[in-house]
Amino acid sequence: MSIATRLMLLGAPGAGKGTQAVRLVDELGIPQISTGDLLRNAVAQGTDLGKEAQTYMAAGKLVPDELVLSLVVARLSEPDAANGYILDGFPRNISQAEALVARGIKLDRVLSLDVPKEELIGRLTGRRICRACQASYHLTFNPSKKEGVCDRCGGELYQRKDDSADVIANRLEVYEAQTAPLLDYYEKAGILRRIPGTGSIEGIYAAIQNALVM
Ligand code: AP5
Repeated sequence: MSIATRLMLLGAPGAGKGTQAVRLVDELGIPQISTGDLLRNAVAQGTDLGKEAQTYMAAGKLVPDELVLSLVVARLSEPDAANGYILDGFPRNISQAEALVARGIKLDRVLSLDVPKEELIGRLTGRRICRACQASYHLTFNPSKKEGVCDRCGGELYQRKDDSADVIANRLEVYEAQTAPLLDYYEKAGILRRIPGTGSIEGIYAAIQNALVM
């Protein structure tokens, strides 16, 4: 028996990918590679890539594949990803999935977190994120112990700009049209595991742990 360490978390905006990824990082000691976080860093640093990505992100659209791929490939080549990784929010469409295959980058498990749309909207509007470690909280469902402060690292909590009602609607449409087809793609590859993403965060994490056994 072995444990899968080349992982991808698949799910709609608000499905809990980031919430579960930090638990996997802490348990398995492998890095979370979130394209959303990499892009938000590029925007915050004002790089050329960040400037180009900003407009797409603000509208809830996918950033062009070539920009995202360059970030992911560079991040995967860092030493801490040598023994495994948790891809969070990537691949986001079939062409990104095929770009991974073309580069010989393998996945052992794709973990899909399945959550009904109505619940996603409530999760995203009440979400708060840590500026320092990106841990995800919710004002009602998963509050930090001290208001506005991250339990994990003491960082400041903030609300993401794209967590507004109109942008959330666009993000959910983009997910259905462009990302959901990956479910079939990875089912056919035999590495998809579907996990109900509702209920307690700990219960969902236990189901993820079971799905890692190879
Ligand atoms: P990205 O940052 O990837 O955002 P996303 O996919 O929309 O996902 P989220 O981060 O919103 O949700 P999550 O599943 O991580 O949920 P979380 O754990 O926080 O992408 C942002 C943008 O970047 C995209 O729109 C696009 O423009 C661009 N981009 C990124 N990757 C790209 C790519 N590959 N190609 C092109 N463009 C790309 O949980 C949500 C909330 O729910 C939290 O408040 C949490 O506390 C709460 N919660 C979690 N679990 C539970 C539970 N079990 N019960 C109740 N509440 C819960």
